[in-house]
Amino acid sequence: MPDLVVSEDKIIERILTMELVRVTERAAVASAKWRGRGNEKAADQAAVDAMRRELNKLPIEGTVVIGEGERDEAPMLFIGEKVGTTKGPKVDIAVDPLEGTTLCAKDMPGSIAVMAMAQSGTLLYAPDVYMDKIAVGPGYPAGIVDLDAAPEDNIMALARAKGVKPGEITALVMDRPRHAELIAKLRAIGCSIRLITDGDVVGVIQCAEPATGIDIYLGIGGAPEGVLAAGALRCVGGQMQGRLILDTPEKIARAATMGITDPRKKYGLMELAAGDTVVAATGVTDGALLSGVKFRGEIIETETIVYRSTTGTVRRIWGEHRELSKFHLD
Ligand code: FBP
Repeated sequence: MPDLVVSEDKIIERILTMELVRVTERAAVASAKWRGRGNEKAADQAAVDAMRRELNKLPIEGTVVIGEGERDEAPMLFIGEKVGTTKGPKVDIAVDPLEGTTLCAKDMPGSIAVMAMAQSGTLLYAPDVYMDKIAVGPGYPAGIVDLDAAPEDNIMALARAKGVKPGEITALVMDRPRHAELIAKLRAIGCSIRLITDGDVVGVIQCAEPATGIDIYLGIGGAPEGVLAAGALRCVGGQMQGRLILDTPEKIARAATMGITDPRKKYGLMELAAGDTVVAATGVTDGALLSGVKFRGEIIETETIVYRSTTGTVRRIWGEHRELSKFHLD
């Protein structure tokens, strides 16, 4: 069940839900033109430009809290950048204009344009570091898994709750050398592992989509991606924990400037995305969660999923866009 702790006056106007769809649609179309061209930078830049243009049309007083990087390293959508017309509510904005840049550049499944909007001050202001994450879908008792428990124990607990053997649990893990030990431990108890090369926003969300067959996400990915995924999980009632990996004095100092005083803190779902949160994602390449952008003559087709935590509503929106020049330029 969605968490309804947010008071009425703090709820983001629902009309903005559809506005987010427009933003991620545009970013997805812009980057889809770079699919398969081996140019990650250009694909990402196209998505950033389009997303920023659209964000600045929204009737919000938005602040980018998760973006393309710090002000000195990112010319656009940097952390702290103000977006929107200022004629509307104060909101936090988290963006990943092209999540899975390599997937897009190689035209592989799973790249998306994704963003979240939340009431001001409620998203975790996560620096661009790694995050250790664990996530499961809805329907389990609270605390069924824990980031600090052994991976085998988490799988056993999940299997017991599902009434199946550990061998019938499927975990999703990023295919990285850093996960060699985790993978070995999971395999030792017979757990099936689906490895992904990139794109763990979708990876986490997949735990909440029964059709994917994924029961649990485990391992280390980007922290910004963790916050975006948490926003979506908030909506469907899944569980997630994350811990920033602040393993150098520089990272600890940077996190401190963002208000993070305990570098070892384990964040629960409600600390990653505490308020009313709307998350939208549009497919760039075809993937398990979303179809990619299709260019069909005069028509461009998009598929977007949008999550609204206050009501727990999940919408899938198919877009058929005409008037090509307008879609690209206005
Ligand atoms: P980019 O879109 O920035 O390339 O991120 C893709 C991604 O796979 C994320 O989904 C994931 O959280 C992160 O990279 C993992 O980082 P790394 O590739 O360094 O393991």
